[in-house]
Amino acid sequence: MRLENYQFIQEGELVHDGVRYEDLAQEFGTPLYIFDEDSFRQRLRAYKEALRSDYFDTELLYASKALLTLAVARIVAQEGVGQDIVSGGELYTSRAGGVDPGKVYFHGNNKLDQELVFALEEGVGTFVVDNRQEVQRLNRLAQEQGVVARVLLRLNPGIEASTHEFIQTAHVDSKFGENIHDPEIYAVIQNMEEASHLHFAGLHSHIGSQIFEETSFFQAATEMMEFATKVQERLSLTIEEINFGGGFGVYYTEGDTPFDVVEFIPRFLEHIHQEAERLGVPLQKVTLEPGRSLVNASGSTLYRVGDIKTTLTDKHYLFIDGGMSDNIRPALYEAKYEALLANKADQASVKNYTVAGKLCESGDIIIEDLPLPEAATGDLLVVNGTGAYNYSMASNYNRLPRPAMIHIMEGKPRLTVKRETYEDLLHLEL
Ligand SMILES: Cc1ncc(COP(=O)(O)O)c(C=O)c1O
Repeated sequence: MRLENYQFIQEGELVHDGVRYEDLAQEFGTPLYIFDEDSFRQRLRAYKEALRSDYFDTELLYASKALLTLAVARIVAQEGVGQDIVSGGELYTSRAGGVDPGKVYFHGNNKLDQELVFALEEGVGTFVVDNRQEVQRLNRLAQEQGVVARVLLRLNPGIEASTHEFIQTAHVDSKFGENIHDPEIYAVIQNMEEASHLHFAGLHSHIGSQIFEETSFFQAATEMMEFATKVQERLSLTIEEINFGGGFGVYYTEGDTPFDVVEFIPRFLEHIHQEAERLGVPLQKVTLEPGRSLVNASGSTLYRVGDIKTTLTDKHYLFIDGGMSDNIRPALYEAKYEALLANKADQASVKNYTVAGKLCESGDIIIEDLPLPEAATGDLLVVNGTGAYNYSMASNYNRLPRPAMIHIMEGKPRLTVKRETYEDLLHLEL
């Protein structure tokens, strides 16, 4: 397993910023989500710093679907970053964490009326409208509230980035956004511009997730800017802002080749500036909204090894005390992970294990063919790269209580999400 910069091997054991995994397991139990707060804060600062421009205003938004808890929302607020939300629940958490609502962008297809009303009441800064029907609904609801909502239109530029099809969002038939090539697209924008209680500010696109090619982003940016010119020419209005989404790829296993986002952003801004000059788009604001690349490497999951089983065909199963209920990604996206035994971190691998969860699904496999030293019941397995889309996608399948989460900052662990109890499983039930 590739170690993160906060992980070290000391006296044969893997430690997190000086903290022994065995001590964490004793104090907080397993499975346990571990979140390295220092590296998250550092990344937020580095991205924010990189996203400065002499040509336009910029805003970094954290795409909080990747990981959102009250503690994470507080960090977002403290670091002065904006937030991309997709539901009333994410907004509620964001507000509880003290994020400035003016820096919140409300995304999502089929935002419910009650969610839109809640967002209007809370003073959400920008609504990223998904489709033409939402234009009318939001205008009506804003009128009822006596406010004017600032809106961007989510566009689908038709770029097919090479990523798993479930996390591709910009192919022609995607459920997200209005298609750039739709003959009625100008009429949709005109309606937004003319709507009495909407302020049409510009456009948004997000081409997918876990993308490794910089060219996909440059290409999408050019498509968006060219489209912005057409909109300006046909409808005589100005595109103030373009939000270019997130989607920067991260390392999970060998073969993943992410680019350095901090180094990429200034070049991307320069590209946007040059395209704006070439095409005559007087862009005032550029926004980016990464999720995964901000949090993934800060998260890992700690499991206790249970039974170990070898099949007749010599497949070695290593069972863990969690599984697809705390990490659905391998089953959902064929996602791959690396892991190691924290208490045997300096020992050579001797065989390949299939790491399987304890849930009643054959597909509840977290890692296939993981080379490890001889494993034994009671060992501690650390799976890296679980910061994004793990806790946020966790479920109570098989009535497993969801794990606790801790943050580690300056070598000190603190509980941020309590482990669910059996009583919690019943607390809404009558
Ligand atoms: C509109 C939008 N913005 C941002 C993101 C964040 O993407 P990522 O976590 O890959 O950076 C997503 C992810 O689905 C999205 O749909």
